Amino acid sequence: MKMKTARTFYVCGGCGSVFSRWMGRCPDCGAWNSLQEEKEPTRPHRPGTGSRRGSPSPTVTPLAEVSSSAAGVIAAGIGEFDTVLGGGAVPGSTVLIGGEPGIGKSTLLLQVAGRFAQRGIGTLYVSGEESAAQIKLRADRLGIRSNIGLLTETDLTVILAALDKAAPRVLILDSIQTTFDPELQSTPGTVSQVRECAVAIGSWARAHDAVAIMIGHVTKDGFIAGPKVLEHLVDTVLQFEGDRRQWIRILRCLKNRFGSTHEVGLFEMGESGLKEVTDPSGHFLSGEAAPGPGTAVAVAIEGRRPLLLEVQALVGHSGGASAPQRVVSGLDQRRVAILTAVLHNVAGIQLAGRDIYVNIIGGFVTDEPAVDLAAAIAIASAALKKPVAPRSVYIGEVGLAGEIRHVPQLERRLIEAEKIGFRSAIVPPINAREINYAGELDLHPAGRIGQVLADL
Ligand code: TYD
Ligand code: MG
Repeated sequence: MKMKTARTFYVCGGCGSVFSRWMGRCPDCGAWNSLQEEKEPTRPHRPGTGSRRGSPSPTVTPLAEVSSSAAGVIAAGIGEFDTVLGGGAVPGSTVLIGGEPGIGKSTLLLQVAGRFAQRGIGTLYVSGEESAAQIKLRADRLGIRSNIGLLTETDLTVILAALDKAAPRVLILDSIQTTFDPELQSTPGTVSQVRECAVAIGSWARAHDAVAIMIGHVTKDGFIAGPKVLEHLVDTVLQFEGDRRQWIRILRCLKNRFGSTHEVGLFEMGESGLKEVTDPSGHFLSGEAAPGPGTAVAVAIEGRRPLLLEVQALVGHSGGASAPQRVVSGLDQRRVAILTAVLHNVAGIQLAGRDIYVNIIGGFVTDEPAVDLAAAIAIASAALKKPVAPRSVYIGEVGLAGEIRHVPQLERRLIEAEKIGFRSAIVPPINAREINYAGELDLHPAGRIGQVLADL
């Protein structure tokens, strides 16, 4: 091969766009400081990753002859994990689990590995993050005694060789960022490395009808490198999230080629690892009997179950700052901006130029429209310094004209609120007419946000 100087280019870790010069901000996705220097590989380009394993002659199979039994899923026997995947992991597929450092990805996956191994499913846990002794310590703490294969390695070629030798049905790779292909000239964690390694691991999984679960770190502002770029290379993308200072962890499905993305798994981080939270009632509530101004409780439906979520808001004077602070966590920032505008323009609550902070207790994140009403009422209650009625839930989507709109599955929400000890519910009038609810909650149908505010 004729040698030439390696061309330098810059790849955005967020969206994968390629540029010829470095810039502080990616013009495609707007991320700051996301461009990484990479060199064009000087080795001859591999035509597809299949060539890593030699070039088998292609076999065409009539679709009718393909056995569908191979499509049976591999379940870990941890309900909150399996359900998020759609009942289990599909053989031949790749799963990416993203999450901030320290959230508990390694803990979750080691527990998952333990359960797979316990069920007699050959499992290899490859770690480039920790030493074997550290992993053993964690396994002891988690009470894992099953026979997991362990490899502490970062070199992709060694990992592929180990896979050939051990032939596991499940591979857990911790993490995709530490894995590197020595044939590439870039450093581990760069976009080209992460991409190349994920493709190689993915073709191993497909060729062996195995499951590859890869861990990827995500920072507060989105990524270190890779996970965003990886999303379209894998079959399933899960996200492990929560407030690190608290115990609740949420496993969410962001993409699933084989099933629904609506399911949410809930866990609690404790002294001996993650425990499933099968009955999440009350986990996202502050537990105060008579909360002060600025809080309202919503009932969201996340996947298969209703969840009570407490929205907290704080409204203050911005002290003459040119732009007031609008800090939102747990809800969509734009949604909160719309609710603020509705409160200001339709309900006459003075919010212009005021700082607004909105948060959901427990680090939960939701985009459920039925949470609108509780969010709006929390902000109004904070602005007016009037608390909401104790033990009330607020359910409804809020429209631009301040109307309270229909939500799906109102009965299920009401039953859950009643179970946790709530006494009354403010609900959309259309729902109130349609439902067949025979429970104990006092229902207050309200057609407009102003009507609810008049009762504060
Ligand atoms: P870890 O799985 O290492 O996070 P990640 O792989 O996402 O970086 O978990 C990190 C945190 O979890 C750490 O702060 C300690 C805590 N932890 C527990 O509270 N209990 C446990 O049993 C374990 C293993 C970890
Ligand atoms: Mg880890």
